[in-house]
Amino acid sequence: MTNTLIRGRLLSFHRAPQSLTDSESYFYEHDGGLLVGDDGRISAIGDYATVKAGAAEDVIEIDHRPHLILPGFIDTHVHFPQMQVIASYAANLLEWLNTYTFPEECRFVESDHAARIATHFYDEFLRQGTTTAVAYCSVHKASADAFFAEALKRNMCMVGGKVMMDRNAPQGLLDTPETGYDETRAVIEQWHGKGRNHVAITPRFAITSTPEQMTAAQALAQEYPDLFIQTHLSENHDEIKYTCELYPEAIDYTDIYARYGLLGQKTLLGHAIHLSEREMDALSEAGSIAVHCPTSNLFLGSGLFPLKALMRREKPVRVSVATDIGGGSSYSMLKTMDEAYKIQQLLGERLNPLESFYLMTRGNAEALSMAADIGTLDVGSVADLVVLNAGSTPAMKLRMETVNTLPEELFLLQTMGDDRAVMETYVAGKAMKPGSIAPNSGA
Ligand code: GUN
Ligand code: ZN
Repeated sequence: MTNTLIRGRLLSFHRAPQSLTDSESYFYEHDGGLLVGDDGRISAIGDYATVKAGAAEDVIEIDHRPHLILPGFIDTHVHFPQMQVIASYAANLLEWLNTYTFPEECRFVESDHAARIATHFYDEFLRQGTTTAVAYCSVHKASADAFFAEALKRNMCMVGGKVMMDRNAPQGLLDTPETGYDETRAVIEQWHGKGRNHVAITPRFAITSTPEQMTAAQALAQEYPDLFIQTHLSENHDEIKYTCELYPEAIDYTDIYARYGLLGQKTLLGHAIHLSEREMDALSEAGSIAVHCPTSNLFLGSGLFPLKALMRREKPVRVSVATDIGGGSSYSMLKTMDEAYKIQQLLGERLNPLESFYLMTRGNAEALSMAADIGTLDVGSVADLVVLNAGSTPAMKLRMETVNTLPEELFLLQTMGDDRAVMETYVAGKAMKPGSIAPNSGA
């Protein structure tokens, strides 16, 4: 096996950018070289000539100039069994769940169906430049088995969980407090730490879990304190009202999860749109993450997530960004940030393109406490990469003629880009985009 030297315009963030001119927040190299070792990790980064001089003679070179090379995108909330739910016409969250989503998820009791969708799931993510995702499987263990088996085959870093849900859904989609506990435990024992797989404890949301099941989730969280926990929080006004009726002893929605010991630094709370100041304080103190799913929030009419306001509070709330397929309407993290930008516009806030690209990469990695492995191009990180072309369509190419700065180029990519802008996706140094042809590669 030999090392690979990937050449192109390199961009990687050191920290969250404070402004459009905060060039200290990132590393950018116009003619960059990225050396990837046999282990799939980055062993050197810098200007091409320097990295080349330090590389072995038989290094394999791949030239992506003039395209941008970034860490692969990270999607922190997505539903693996909802690939055939995306683009379903509904008035709101609860109607959408009951009419389309729950019936569709029932199909994942069949291993063959789950395996087929898993193949499409990873193909699509790789087409979009997304190399890590945090996913909900269905209630069936077979769905988690399919999800993790396919991730293992592709050597992708994935987080996922068998959903726990024991009420307010069709019979074919219910477990019990006991089976929810036992099967989650079985998934952890079988898959956690295998390849790059991470298991998340996944009570769907308080509406579909009885207090007994929440207690079972709490037991799992205590037994496996290092695991992620994911659930949904305060997405829709009717949902919030019903949830609080189901847990009358809790002072608000967030308090329900707190009472069952589910709020920690590895807790990802999907949506979290309509929070009181008390709830924001509680999340801030717990270090839990509010996961912004902009295309979903607009598609389901759920509301406008106060991303910037949460970030700049005296007690800031940790945030991440995600597609929320299939409530979300696009697999693309570029399109996701385009909609995130527009939501901030409606709230009178500015989300600059450096922040957007930080959030899709290092920001999401930090939210997952994984920035030592993914989300940057730092030496030692796994070479999960996306190669982007801001002139990938005729209209983008024309607009590129008037682009002068890196932030302008990033903003164009975010505003007009989609999977067509993704020239290649690397997983641990290996080109993986379905259908792509490696450019100018040779020894
Ligand atoms: N709340 C509970 N389940 C879901 C889901 O599948 N999608 C969304 N958007 N919200 C949820
Ligand atoms: Zn969700």
